[in-house]
Amino acid sequence: MPPARRFPADAVLMGAVGGPQYDALPRAMRPEQGILAIRKALGLFANLRPALLFPELASASTLKPEFVAGLDLMIVRELTGDVYFGVPRGRRTNAAGEIEGFDTMLYAESEILRIARVGFEIAAKRGRRLCSVDKANVLDTSILWREVVTAAGRDYPDVTLSHMYVDNAAMQLVRAPKQFDVIVTGNLFGDILSDEASMLAGSIGMLPSASLDENNKGLYEPIHGSAPDLAGKNRANPLATILSLAMMFRYTFSRADVADRIEAAVRRVLAQGHRTADIAAPGERVIGAREMGDAVAAALG
Ligand code: IPM
Ligand code: MG
Repeated sequence: MPPARRFPADAVLMGAVGGPQYDALPRAMRPEQGILAIRKALGLFANLRPALLFPELASASTLKPEFVAGLDLMIVRELTGDVYFGVPRGRRTNAAGEIEGFDTMLYAESEILRIARVGFEIAAKRGRRLCSVDKANVLDTSILWREVVTAAGRDYPDVTLSHMYVDNAAMQLVRAPKQFDVIVTGNLFGDILSDEASMLAGSIGMLPSASLDENNKGLYEPIHGSAPDLAGKNRANPLATILSLAMMFRYTFSRADVADRIEAAVRRVLAQGHRTADIAAPGERVIGAREMGDAVAAALG
């Protein structure tokens, strides 16, 4: 075997956070604050969330196979702005003496521009169609968003830009998901749409993600939660995590060759019929997380 090659610590592979035991904690102490602080501190503003349906899993989707077969879309979600980080936020007592909770949806031009560019760059390397999702019929933040994305598009004449309101996008994703190539959107809308898109791909247990800074250094994680109900039971689907590793090789280490090998190994085990519980059709044999991991390792060749 060749000596293990060491890669610089430009990338981190991470599991998801959360669990019901934290639900009663004040917001500042919830584990979600950890991942949000990491994203912000490392400047990981570009969150890439592909939704790709492996043909073998066409029947695992809750949508009819003809609507999802061949699905390959990429959601580019802005990750360090929006109502997630906007200030002021908190609670106050209004003039009538009633307690109010409030958050601030906020985007600076430069934040919109840099994520728009990521969206255009990725679209240029794929199907050359970018759909920007906003709520510009209601929100001032979105009106600015649309203006800036449109202006950025002048630098990418080969990419066809369209705009869609987020409510319509949520509907179109289940009505005709294959109309999309790349979607670029803000933090909150991207959070919601990427969970929705995951079900098109059969299971949220299949979807990897990359969170990148300006220099493509990144944090990689499955888009699913920590699944506390599955912890320690050898039942989780490890493929989203394994596919996140493939994305790490593709985006941070510029080793598309290694990424291709990992993704091919995942395709191979699916073709061989290996299924964890979340992607098994009724009656299909179910294997555990450990067995699935071993199968991928064996398929790497
Ligand atoms: C995600 C998660 C996080 C988010 C939570 C855990 C804070 O839902 O990565 O999509 O809302 O961004
Ligand atoms: Mg989410």
